[in-house]
Amino acid sequence: MQESSLFILARALHVLAVVLWIGGVAFVTLVLLPALRDLADPATRLQQFEALEGRFALQARISTVLAGLSGFYMLAFLHAWERYAQPAFWWLHLMTAVWLMFTLVLFVFEPWFLHRWFHELAVRDDRRAFALVQRLHVVLLSLSLLAVGAAVAGAHGLLS
Ligand code: HEM
Repeated sequence: MQESSLFILARALHVLAVVLWIGGVAFVTLVLLPALRDLADPATRLQQFEALEGRFALQARISTVLAGLSGFYMLAFLHAWERYAQPAFWWLHLMTAVWLMFTLVLFVFEPWFLHRWFHELAVRDDRRAFALVQRLHVVLLSLSLLAVGAAVAGAHGLLS
């Protein structure tokens, strides 16, 4: 296969991974968390949240890894590492920052302390814990959507 075809495949994989991953974050933020807040019995809310978001965690981990691998492959193919030194490529910085935040949350903070910390907070103060988790999801989703829009505009020459 020609190298340029590999680049196009990497680009397609990158976008597919981002769709699965950020689409899932949008679902959790805009559908799952508000529905649990309005519908679920507070006594079972935590259990339901952990069961439902736990199913998304594997999908999120796999798509984050695929987005990172395809993204770095594209940078290597384009010999474009020096873009990190150019403020005009702020959309690349934003993409990478969003990727790094999710990678840290999913692979380091969550298994290390975040899961236990949230569980304990929710047992003590269910309303506060869910309000906090909702706010964090809104921030992450907003940054992710900004990154998607800016990446498409930037990759097709609108921003530089
Ligand atoms: C390690 C992290 C990442 C790296 C190294 C990376 C790298 C890249 C590169 C090199 C391109 C092609 C740019 C060009 O053609 O000039 C690209 C495109 C793109 N990236 Fe990323 N990316 C990363 C993470 C993300 C994340 C987290 C998102 C979404 C939130 C994202 C969304 C996109 C989109 C939507 C495109 C445009 C595709 C197109 O219109 O062809 N990327 N990325």
